[in-house]
Parts: sequence; structure tokens; C-alpha cells
Amino acid sequence: MLREGQILYTYLHLAPDPDQTKLLVESGATCVAYETVTDAEGGLPLLAPMSEVAGRMSVQAGAHHLEKAQGGRGVLLAGVPGVAPAKVLIIGGGVVGDNAASMAVGMGADVTILDRSIPRLRQLDNEYEGRARCVFSTNAAIEEYALEADLVIGAVLVHGAAAPKLLSSNLIKRMKKGAVVVDVAIDQGGCFETSKATTHDQPTYIVDGVVHYCVANMPGGVARTATMALNNATLPYAIALANDPVGALFTNPNLQNGLNVHKGSITYKAVADALGYPYVPADEALKAYAQ
Ligand SMILES: NC(=O)c1ccc[n+]([C@@H]2O[C@H](COP(=O)([O-])OP(=O)(O)OC[C@H]3O[C@@H](n4cnc5c(N)ncnc54)[C@H](O)[C@@H]3O)[C@@H](O)[C@H]2O)c1
Repeated sequence: MLREGQILYTYLHLAPDPDQTKLLVESGATCVAYETVTDAEGGLPLLAPMSEVAGRMSVQAGAHHLEKAQGGRGVLLAGVPGVAPAKVLIIGGGVVGDNAASMAVGMGADVTILDRSIPRLRQLDNEYEGRARCVFSTNAAIEEYALEADLVIGAVLVHGAAAPKLLSSNLIKRMKKGAVVVDVAIDQGGCFETSKATTHDQPTYIVDGVVHYCVANMPGGVARTATMALNNATLPYAIALANDPVGALFTNPNLQNGLNVHKGSITYKAVADALGYPYVPADEALKAYAQ
């Protein structure tokens, strides 16, 4: 159906998807992937809205599954006067982790954020002003805080790599029974050894008494909010592409970084390397387009 001269502009995630990549290469179409478009600071502006949604949702989902009827240990995140709040551990203080922390702090939980980036920990420390502990992430710190946690949120990302397994099955076995782990990084393979992807229909399963929530597409559960958030970020590029596709891709290096496939060539190095295609730099491939 797709053909040369057409532009496909959406999430593609081609590196782990050889079948879709082959069909897009054969189509000759120009394919711009949301997930590799960059901004002036080197961030990923079309991924951020989904991370914001998933981060905020992770605490909502975790709080719900801490309820006894959901398999949780029957703990209220905020506690009440006379009863201590729940302990929430967030591993990874990026967009997901920050949004999770703001929800957990807002709900009155006892929050710890672990990250491996000192500059990021500094930012978070300034932001939360003592309302969340910001701690350097080591195996020892993960073990210490996971063993006392009621809710653990996995929010790490190592760019271009599968998520590291930060909670081992052995550690999960030693956690409190009825604790909840929410593996937001499940779309990158998951950061807990016991994680496997679930859906909104059946979001959780239990391993060694610990409730696992591993929904691979969390924003799908709040599709209205997620769609509006995504449109806010994608629309300006869509208008630029519609008005002048060649000009937009040539002149805007951040949009050009989104070009993954063009006229039968793979123009994104990580995808070419992952799937064994020759890599053609985007500006080279686009020259043919301009002629
Ligand atoms: N399941 C879903 O629906 C859904 C939705 C959005 C995002 N995600 C996923 O959530 C994850 C996080 O996304 P993000 O946008 O917050 O990424 P991000 O790049 O903004 O943040 C990731 C953070 O993880 C930290 N980190 C890396 N290794 C670590 C380690 N060993 N210990 C502690 N911290 C470590 C990094 O320093 C960084 O601050 C990604 O895997 C993303 O794909 C999933």
C-alpha cells in the first residue's frame, strides 16, 4: 500500500522488527520515526509525552495494586495520622522517574529515587527539596531500598540497549510479600529479572508473593490524555512535513534525525546495524529526494 513519494510519520521502533523494516524498505516510502526525532538539547521530544503519562500512571497503578483485593499487602500510600506512609522506590530518575516521584510525593509516600547520573540526582534533589531521597544507584543501594519497599517502579533507560536487570529473581524472593513492582521499562525488555510483558486486560501476575505490573503500553490505558499529549508534540513537525517535506527534512537537523528509511535505504545507523542493512546517512539519501 505504501509507495515511493509518500511519508510515514509515526512510532516505528524498527531495530527489533525485521519484518516491518523489510516491508518499509521495499515500499520506497520516506519513514520518519517519532522515537528518534531529537530536540536542541539532544532529548527525544516525541517520546517524552508518553514517558510523562507512564510515569504518572505507574504510581496510580502501583497504589491500586497495593490494595489487598488486588494481591497487594493492603497498604495505603499516604498512610494516615498514626500510621507511616508506604515506601516507594523509583529506579531511574529520568522523565518517567521524575513524573512518578512527583505523584508519589504528592500522595504522601516515603520516596527514594535512584539514578546513576550525578547531574540528574542534583536536579532532582533541587526539585524535591528533601521530599524525596535522591541516591546514587548501586547494587547495594538497590538491594537496601528494595527490601524495605512497598512499591518499586522500574524506570531506567540505557540509550540503544536493552534495559539492565536491576532486581534479580533472588532479590524479588526476599522482598516483602504483597509488595508491588511496576516495570515501566518493560518496553525495552524490562529491568526486573522476573518481568514479562502484560496488557491492560490482565496487567499483573505474582512471583514469590510480589505483584508484578508490566504493561508494555501503559499510555493506551489513558488513550484520551495520551493522544492529546502526543499531538501537542508531533503536530508542529507534521505541519512542516506536509508543507515542504524536502525542505523540512533538509533544514531541520532534529527532524532529519527522525528519518529511518528513505527510498529503499536505511538512514538510521542503529537500525542498519541491528538488522544488517547498509547504512546510508540521511543527508546523502535525501539528495536524491531533492532532485
Ligand atoms: N511501558 C510503557 O508504556 C512506557 C511508556 C513510556 C516509557 N517507557 C520506558 O520507560 C523507561 C524510562 O524512560 P524515560 O523516558 O524516563 O528515560 P530517560 O532517559 O528520561 O531516563 C532514564 C534514566 O535511567 C537512568 N539509569 C540508567 N541506568 C540506571 C541504573 N542502573 N540505575 C538507576 N538509573 C539508571 C538514567 O540515568 C536516566 O536518568 C524506558 O525504558 C522507556 O522505554 C515505557
